[in-house]
Amino acid sequence: MHRGRTQFLVLIILLHQALIQAQVYGQGIPSSCHKLEIKYKRSMGIDASDAIHIPESLQVPADHKLRLCYLGQGVQKYKFNGTEWINFNASAVLHLGGQNRIGGRHFYLAKPDNLGGQPTWETFSSWSTVTGKALEKTSVRNDAIAWVLLQSTHSSGSGKRFGQATYIQRLFTVGGLPPNTTSLTGAVTGQYFESPYTAVYAYYTKQ
Ligand SMILES: *[C@@H]1O[C@H](CO)[C@@H](O)[C@H](O)[C@H]1NC(C)=O
Ligand SMILES: *[C@@H]1O[C@H](CO)[C@@H](O)[C@H](O)[C@H]1NC(C)=O
Ligand SMILES: *[C@@H]1O[C@H](CO)[C@@H](O)[C@H](O)[C@H]1NC(C)=O
Repeated sequence: MHRGRTQFLVLIILLHQALIQAQVYGQGIPSSCHKLEIKYKRSMGIDASDAIHIPESLQVPADHKLRLCYLGQGVQKYKFNGTEWINFNASAVLHLGGQNRIGGRHFYLAKPDNLGGQPTWETFSSWSTVTGKALEKTSVRNDAIAWVLLQSTHSSGSGKRFGQATYIQRLFTVGGLPPNTTSLTGAVTGQYFESPYTAVYAYYTKQ
């Protein structure tokens, strides 16, 4: 009898917690995205209750749903072509929701695929991959690389990861800019530069 009552109480507590969770993430924000938004706000000194608005031009069509967010941590790679620093690659590790464990990596394909996609993300366990093509970019802060909306050109592997991804956003960027060319008078054609950065990558699938 006593044992049955304890189990009943545990069940009530679990149901209650599930309800609270549902309220916090009630607008359909996955917990991995919620955690990274909080982390970014904290690092930028933005009040937790202030909403961060994603620029209109970077918004995903309404029939696509936000599924997962990874923190990307690594370098943006540049090559000087004589007049400009060209962003030709990236090398970053991916942490699901900012967890310590490395869940995947980000890089550019050697060449754009047949639909023009080149930036690629891959998960290790539950293997999956998605390649995307940038549709829109918006510089949100002048000390960080732009926020970007990309459309998937190819994806495969686990549908719980990137296998069904349709759109990807690069948000909440920190660093990653090329050298300030005017102050780097010594730059020679063909010179490389790696610029440390972090960003949040948000993955969407069709509803
Ligand atoms: C460097 O790249 C930019 C952008 O693609 C281009 O406009 C410019 O002509 C290039 N400069 C040289 C010297 O190739
Ligand atoms: C980018 O780097 C990856 C390895 O990290 C490499 O496989 C790929 O070919 C590179 N892409 C370009 C365009 O340099
Ligand atoms: C680039 O360097 C020049 C000269 O030092 C400076 O006037 C300019 O503000 C810098 N631009 C940026 C974007 O940092």
